[in-house]
Amino acid sequence: MPHQDTARQVPETSRDEWEDQYRSGRWDYLAERPEQARYTALCARIEAAGAASVLDIGCGTGVLRDCLGDRFGGRYVGVDWSHAALAGRTRRPRETLLCADASRLPLRGTFDAVVLSEVLYYLDEPLAAVRGMLDLVAPGGQLLISLYQPPAVRHPGWHALIGALDRDVRSLAGTSHELVTGAGRRSWRLYVLTREAGR
Ligand SMILES: C[S@@+](CC[C@H](N)C(=O)[O-])C[C@H]1O[C@@H](n2cnc3c(N)ncnc32)[C@H](O)[C@@H]1O
Repeated sequence: MPHQDTARQVPETSRDEWEDQYRSGRWDYLAERPEQARYTALCARIEAAGAASVLDIGCGTGVLRDCLGDRFGGRYVGVDWSHAALAGRTRRPRETLLCADASRLPLRGTFDAVVLSEVLYYLDEPLAAVRGMLDLVAPGGQLLISLYQPPAVRHPGWHALIGALDRDVRSLAGTSHELVTGAGRRSWRLYVLTREAGR
């Protein structure tokens, strides 16, 4: 049985605040070199799995898609609720961008890789979101969740979420999990949840 959900552990950032933050360049640093190791780890997983379709939930400006580069010829769907984040993006071939709330995704079908890169802490019911997003993963495909791991004293809420996610992923039926950790400007964790092929 999955554990009881952990409600949002960080102060809410409203949709309007995200819009303002993107307009002011608050998140531009994500595309800078010190952040690259995390995107590179995500891309390595997508490539190693031979994913032909990627759903990037809370995609922001699409840094992950750019990191995949021209060597990824599959279908990419990026979803974010910030118009400002999506507005400046030049779409690549086979790329679809949707402005929508991650809690109410207007999507059908499944994807070989579903990505939540630095997004989970902002969702109302993160553990429920993870379970819901697993339904969007094709059998044999992967849900990739990356989380920044700041010092516990500075961000106790984020640590509470990580603890709850650690416990929850162990109890997910039909799904194996692996944890990758890394550092750069910031320490991060990458959860790789693989849906069993028969599910
Ligand atoms: C820290 S940024 C990460 C952006 C991108 N995933 C990356 O790693 O480069 C978090 C993103 O989540 C988006 N977001 C937060 N809550 C959301 C929600 N409920 N629905 C859709 N997007 C959301 C924000 O607009 C923002 O673009």
